[in-house]
Amino acid sequence: MRISMIGCGHVGLVTGTCLAEAGHRVVCTDNDPERIATLKAGVVPIYEPHLDAMLAANCRSQNLSFTSNAAEAVRTADAIFICVGTPPLENGEADLSAIDDVARMVASEALASKLVVEKSTVPAQTGQQLKRVLEVYRREGGAKFRVASNPEFLREGTAVEDFLHPDRIVLGVEDEATERQLREIYRPILERRFRCPVHLGACPPAKSLELLITTMNSAELIKHASNSFLAMKISYANMIADLCEKVGADIKEVTRAMGLDPRIGPRFLDAGLGFGGFCLPKDIQAFIRLAERSGVDFSMLKEAERVNKRRIDLFVEKIRQALWVVKDKQIGVLGLAFKANTDDIRFAPSLDVLRRLIAEGAHVRAYDQEAMDKTSAVFPQVRYFREPYEVARNADALLILTEWPEFRSLDWERIHGMMGRPLIVDGRNLLEPKVMVEHGFEYYSFGRPEESLATQFVPAQVSGFSSAGASA
Ligand code: UGA
Repeated sequence: MRISMIGCGHVGLVTGTCLAEAGHRVVCTDNDPERIATLKAGVVPIYEPHLDAMLAANCRSQNLSFTSNAAEAVRTADAIFICVGTPPLENGEADLSAIDDVARMVASEALASKLVVEKSTVPAQTGQQLKRVLEVYRREGGAKFRVASNPEFLREGTAVEDFLHPDRIVLGVEDEATERQLREIYRPILERRFRCPVHLGACPPAKSLELLITTMNSAELIKHASNSFLAMKISYANMIADLCEKVGADIKEVTRAMGLDPRIGPRFLDAGLGFGGFCLPKDIQAFIRLAERSGVDFSMLKEAERVNKRRIDLFVEKIRQALWVVKDKQIGVLGLAFKANTDDIRFAPSLDVLRRLIAEGAHVRAYDQEAMDKTSAVFPQVRYFREPYEVARNADALLILTEWPEFRSLDWERIHGMMGRPLIVDGRNLLEPKVMVEHGFEYYSFGRPEESLATQFVPAQVSGFSSAGASA
């Protein structure tokens, strides 16, 4: 099938490339000509594991191409996927102006009938508005449009795997022809007819993948309801962590046991700095506004959001308590991206932490595998290093702000020897308190109490270091 992607952001690029891999002829367009020029030159402007190789292979096979000519992309397509951004407005509502622009452009450029698929995350009832705009602006005697909602559940960092091996595909449709066409688009994914770059021909046995046919309003709601639930789950775990600190329990023990109940599940119970990124924070806000506009008292969402904002205060407070005075302290930062395996820093907790530290007069050195270029554009005053050990040099404290798994296996003895004061404040509960204390660090994290560290403390003979402090 001939498919056009309007919008070459993360979702558009991953969806377009994967659908090309599935055998469709995909044209991607974007209103940023520089982005299209970059993509035409074979450079992928985002970091997403496996995407660059798959994109190159599908460009070579001519299943995938890029154009700045949106009109051409519209005219040649059987189905048009809208993948533009829906950033938050001042009041938290989703800004739907890009969807409106695309709808008017599609309506005026299309010469024949098209299926228009809403892929961007939008509040319920947007599909109905989309239908109206397409109808109002369509050419005299011209094309007819069918509209569908097909929300995405891609996580940054594992988006290619999520697309090719989904748990569910949700199709919000209003007629049988649309359902048939969308089923056809997704058939290669359902039948696993693609070269999987993630598992290199050895994909794990198929999961019980469900294809759900719903109304458009339900499909739109499913997306916001899912992301908001995940956000609430994280905030819940964070409150349990705070309680653990007060009553002397260990959050890892508590959430592990909770997660063994299949009704709860083990994922998204990691306490720490809280959720960031361009999805959860904005989607929970948009969901709150939708509930308010609809006259539904969904205040538990507001509470989840409030809990999340407080994580930064609590983290900075931990740093202050340990350092006493922050001004003029050398602070090393490991991790800037909003989570591991991405270069994305949008709404990353690290940005708020850096802002506070800089405002208090700290000197910050930072390292991240992928996100330093983007962060340096926001914080030019921070010194960035291409090597994690350099941020520890003479530091009074080392902070962990992203859960990059690589940080677990750093040479902590070496880091201990390099620091001015061997103090770690771990915002992601990434390291083992017992091990860090054995290495001679003063170590703080979320929801793992002082008492257990004191009792776990093993003096210098284990690591060969003199212990700078055993309490946390
Ligand atoms: C999220 C959803 O997980 C996807 O299903 C959805 O498709 C996507 O948004 C979207 O709407 O496009 P993503 O933004 O990539 O995906 O990130 P998540 O993996 O959800 O992580 C969000 C934040 O929560 C990160 O800052 C992460 O560090 C934090 N987090 C996650 C925790 O603090 N604790 C956890 O247990 C899990």
